[in-house]
Amino acid sequence: MGFPLQQVNNQNTNPWRVDFPALNNAGKPVAFMDSAASAQKPQAVLASMDDVARSHYANIHRGLYDFSQKTTSAYEAARHTVAAFIKAQSDNEIIFTRNTTEAINLVAQCWGRSHLQAGDEILITEMEHHANIVPWVMIAEATGAVVKYIPVLDDGRLDITAIDSLVTDKTKLFACTHISNAIGVVNDVHALILKIKAANSNVVTLIDASQSIVHRAIDVQASGADFIVFTGHKLYGPSGIGVLWGHEDLLNTMPPYQGGGDMIETVSLKSGITYKQAPARFEAGTPAILETIGLAAAIDYVSAIGMDAIAAHEQTLYSYMRKRADEIDGLTFYGDVSGEEKAPILSFTADWAHVSDIATILDQCGVAVRSGHHCAMPLMERFGIDGTVRASLGLYSTQGDVDQFINALHKAYKLLG
Ligand code: ALA
Repeated sequence: MGFPLQQVNNQNTNPWRVDFPALNNAGKPVAFMDSAASAQKPQAVLASMDDVARSHYANIHRGLYDFSQKTTSAYEAARHTVAAFIKAQSDNEIIFTRNTTEAINLVAQCWGRSHLQAGDEILITEMEHHANIVPWVMIAEATGAVVKYIPVLDDGRLDITAIDSLVTDKTKLFACTHISNAIGVVNDVHALILKIKAANSNVVTLIDASQSIVHRAIDVQASGADFIVFTGHKLYGPSGIGVLWGHEDLLNTMPPYQGGGDMIETVSLKSGITYKQAPARFEAGTPAILETIGLAAAIDYVSAIGMDAIAAHEQTLYSYMRKRADEIDGLTFYGDVSGEEKAPILSFTADWAHVSDIATILDQCGVAVRSGHHCAMPLMERFGIDGTVRASLGLYSTQGDVDQFINALHKAYKLLG
């Protein structure tokens, strides 16, 4: 049984919300505050995939006929859209993957197997998502390398003073998230990369931009990174499509880890196999054709609004949400920093209820949040908790959503507190 929605103000729309069918078709006010997990899809993204499926869908790179040529053009145009969005030097630097997880696994396996040996060190942080921990632990186990971790301070920031002792001559790779998915702390990854490369200029660097690609403009060349990864489904695009960006020269030093169609130059039972250059060598098999085209439509959509306009809207709303959250007794906030150091992600526990019970009451009030460890168990362990409630904002979020969320928290406190 749901609770009546009280005091939801009339500021429950913004110029972009109308573009998101799921938020308008629910038949009741839905405060969707789980965009950090996966974002809603605008009509333009749905239409882009529908159009191709209804007009000229075919497999790509394989057909001389009209449908295949048209779909191949749309797929490769999507690669160009992604390259331009993140200011890559060449479309060849863009590898399409299933998601961020697959992009990191690709680097761990393809770069790691050919560049790591026993005793080498991989440096990551305590705040990573499991997708930026487990692949490194797996390749370390396979090669004899060691994984080291930059600690997190009580306020949720990285302890950058630890870097001096953590980077050694043996450090081969540094991988770090730009924005913590669990607590919304923004890392100054450019400064981190400069500091690490000053200590050891040979360190190869990977930035997980899964959360940041949604909230701010990313310039891969200015970042100083060697690899940057992100996923489409958080960027208002479809699921099943992700991106690995890397320097073309570096990508072409890496042997592929998945073999199959479209990634080879020749396959001969007599003379052996030769691989294409990047990006094709890493895109074995039929890719996520429609989803890739949908990702390009999502990028066109957010680009038309402007990343700065999106960031300004979300920051204003986050400040309002954080202020109103102080109305509720007994909350502890994690990564409770502000300004440039904070993404629009509120993460908290309560001393009066378990986070999953709070999330259940919120759901009954039409508020969608994530609760639990957010696939960042080492970070939860660091704070001595088993999870938080996480409310994350997107470009379609409104003051009405925040009010609905705060009202629901008051209800939860009344029931459980
Ligand atoms: N990585 C996603 C999250 O943070 C699933 O919820």
